[in-house]
Formats: sequence, C-alpha cells, structure tokens
Amino acid sequence: IPVEAFDLVIFGGTGDLARRKILPGLYRRFRDGQIPDDARIVGAARSDMSAEAYRAQVADALNEVLPASKRDAESVEAFLARLDYVGIDATGTHGWPDLSQKMRAGVVQAFYFSVAPALFGDLAKRLHKHKIAGPEARIVVEKPFGHDLASARDLNAMLARHFDEQQIYRIDHYLGKETVQNLMAVRFGNLLFEPLWRNQYIDHVQITVAETVGVGGRGAYYDKSGAMRDMVQNHLMQLLCLIAMEPPAKFDPDAVRDEKLKVIRALDPVEPGDVVRGQYRAGADTPSYRDDAENPASRTESFIAMKLHVSNWRWNGTPFYLRTGKRMKARVSEIVVRFKEPPHSIFEEDTGQSANELTIRLQPNEGMDLTVTIKEPGPGGMRLIDVPLDMTFAEALGEEAADVPDAYERLIMDVIRGNQTLFMRGDEVEAAWAWTDPVIAAWDAREEKPISYEAGSTGPEEALILMHRDGRRWREIGS
Ligand code: BG6
Repeated sequence: IPVEAFDLVIFGGTGDLARRKILPGLYRRFRDGQIPDDARIVGAARSDMSAEAYRAQVADALNEVLPASKRDAESVEAFLARLDYVGIDATGTHGWPDLSQKMRAGVVQAFYFSVAPALFGDLAKRLHKHKIAGPEARIVVEKPFGHDLASARDLNAMLARHFDEQQIYRIDHYLGKETVQNLMAVRFGNLLFEPLWRNQYIDHVQITVAETVGVGGRGAYYDKSGAMRDMVQNHLMQLLCLIAMEPPAKFDPDAVRDEKLKVIRALDPVEPGDVVRGQYRAGADTPSYRDDAENPASRTESFIAMKLHVSNWRWNGTPFYLRTGKRMKARVSEIVVRFKEPPHSIFEEDTGQSANELTIRLQPNEGMDLTVTIKEPGPGGMRLIDVPLDMTFAEALGEEAADVPDAYERLIMDVIRGNQTLFMRGDEVEAAWAWTDPVIAAWDAREEKPISYEAGSTGPEEALILMHRDGRRWREIGS
C-alpha cells in the first residue's frame, strides 16, 4: 500500500549512511510501488551543487550498493526525478531560505538528521527559526544518541525545545529487522509460548551479535565508544526488552515502549565478575584492534560478554547472557531461549533427553527453530533424540516472501506513516544509559584492560567460562 505524499529532507544527504542505506532503501520502496509519484526527497549537505549533480551521485550509489537484479534503468530514472538538493550550513544561515521555499504545504514533512549528534540542536533550531517544520513534521535521529546519560539528556532537552516527543523518531535499526518483529508475533500471536515465557520454565536466554568486520575506517568514533556503547546500550538492550517485556495491552507505540522501559528499569547493576571485555589481536592478514583504532594503548573493548538479571516476578532467577564482538568467527545475530528440562523423566534409560530450545535468527538465514525431543525411530527401545522444528522463512514462505525490506526501508516508511512503535522514546534511551554508565565508570576507575582475543575466534576464553561456571554453554557461533 503506498504511503501518503511526503517531503523528506536528508541532512547529511551525501554522507555514508545516506549512500549505503537511506537512499538505496528509498529506491527499493519506490520500485515496489510504495512511494507515490508526488513524493520528494531533498538531499541537504554542506557543499553546493546542482540537483543534477546530486542525482548523478545518487545514481552511482545505487549502482554500487544494489545488485543489478534489484534495480532497472526505468525505475532508477523515475526515482532520481523525485530528488532535489540544497547546499546548507547547519550552523549558519546559508541555504535555509532555499530549503524553506522547497517545502510544500499539505504533505507529510520529515527531516532525517543523518549527521553528527553535535549538529542535532543546530538543525532543530534552524528548522524552527526559518519556520520550515510545521507542527506535524517529523524528525529522525540516528545513533549514537548521546555518549552517556548526561549527554543523552542534553540531546533530548535540545530537541524538546522545538519538537514534541511524538515528532521525534530515534532510530535503532535493529528494531527494523524482520525477525525482531517476528519475535513479538511469535510471543503474542500464539498461545503456545507465552504461558511458558517465565523463570519457572525458561532456564536462561542468550543474545549473540557477532560480526566478522573490524573497526577499520571508523576507529576514531569506535575507540571512544567500544562495544558497550556501540552495541549493548542500544541494539542488544532492545532485543532483551522485546524478549523480557510483559505483553502490552495493544500493539501501539506507547503501550509497547512503556513495557520495554520497565524491563530496562528492572535490570540489576552488573557485577564486575559477570562481564568479560575483549579486544582483537592482529590476524594472519588483518590488523589488530589497536592498529585499526590507531591507538597503541587503547583500553576500548571490541568484544563484550555479560550476564544480566532482570529483577522482577517474571524473570527472577533466569539470567540473560549477552555477547557481541568484532572480528569474530562468523556474522551471526541470534537469540536462544533455553527452556528447563522436564521435572521428572519417566524413561528408564538415561537417553540424553534434553531441554527445548527456541532459536530466533536475525541474520543470516532469518527464521526460527525449536528443538523438540522425540523418540528415535526404529526398534531400539525408548531412545530419545532432539530434532529441530525449522521455520526458516525462505523455506516456509518461499524465497520471494523471505526477500523482506531492509531495516532502514521499513523504518523510513514507518516515519512517513507516523508510526513510532519501532523507535526509541526519550525516556527509554535515558534509562538504558542510566544502566550503562556505572558499568563503564567502574572499568574506567579500575583502568581495566580488555583481554586480547584471536581474530576470527569466538572471543576470549573467559567468555566461555562465564557460562561454564553456571553449567551452561553458548550456542556455537556459525554452527
Ligand atoms: C551499528 C554499529 O549500529 O550496527 C556498528 O555502530 C555495527 O558497529 C552495526 O557494525 C551492525 O549492524 P548490522 O545490521 O550489520 O548487524
């Protein structure tokens, strides 16, 4: 279904995110017929250039980012015709009257701040001052949303001076991933899981986001953040919230976000012994973290594993284990919900009967599987084996149905539709920082050094021990 007509302004319209994600995503939605012909996309950036020159840049980006099978000359041309450009000074006056003239009345107005957070306040102020953004206009802001609680509060306060909370769309692109939404569908669209979804029946939950890339090219940003700020405070925290939250009364933005917020607020402070920080060494032909970050004495972690407790009635006693890292063995994002073993075995032989496991795969190979215990076929008596009930989307629904929109495409369309469910509310972001800050402060106070780990591995040995000492183990990465 096509969305309404809109004017979307992308500040940072020539930047990396715009080239790699935002514009290719918009093109894909356009090609699919979701973007109406009277929609307009205005790139805005510091350098002056003609709309023609901008279109040529965007055409290059589409060629580079999208495989030939995902684009065609005719629709690319029609898409480019929707584009315009304005050279603008985010901290001055240049370009603003120009932009003001380009905006139309009577269509949805959205402003994507794909720029450094230091400029968020300047942009908000000027949109207001030049009367460019109407009362219904939406602004989209990218992470990092602050560096700690104080800076996140400042950012929220700065935006709140000119925009209402309902106008602010804070992106966490993990919430736009297909399987993440499926997590809610599975939990709240079936009767089967929810009654068991608690400490009484779930032994523990594991969340893994492993990447093979290093931090080369963005070392300057990353070295000041580390895995805790870059991944845990936002993406892993959001996944944890969706797993742990109480059923919202409706699938509506504030109902969902209220429940997520309660989860963050129920998190216990982390014990130092429940965290393992790592930093990758040089591999056979990959540089070390410190070389990538160009900081020979860096104490920043490129890997983190931790055990968390959500202190409420539902989860008391069921730990959540989180891990994420760069330069690991494989690119895998998945959540494993491990159920408890049946309380009593009626089968005489100990046949290796084990517990059910629900695995939710975000990437690659999106889907879910549930291991169930059945009798091994054949005459050998009552021997039990575990088999997976596999719900790989591509197999269950066909390749085409599994060709789902990328996270950014979906989220930008939600902005145009005015649906904030998959965006973070200001209080959520602040609560996540309030939990993160003391953990980081404790490392800083101890001048703690991360443990070095081999590139292409599963992280430091100590991360495995974090689970082993509780009699549990991580699902193997890339298995
Ligand atoms: C970003 C982080 O938010 O998410 C990156 O800043 C990380 O460090 C990326 O690589 C991972 O996203 P995805 O969608 O590739 O899993």
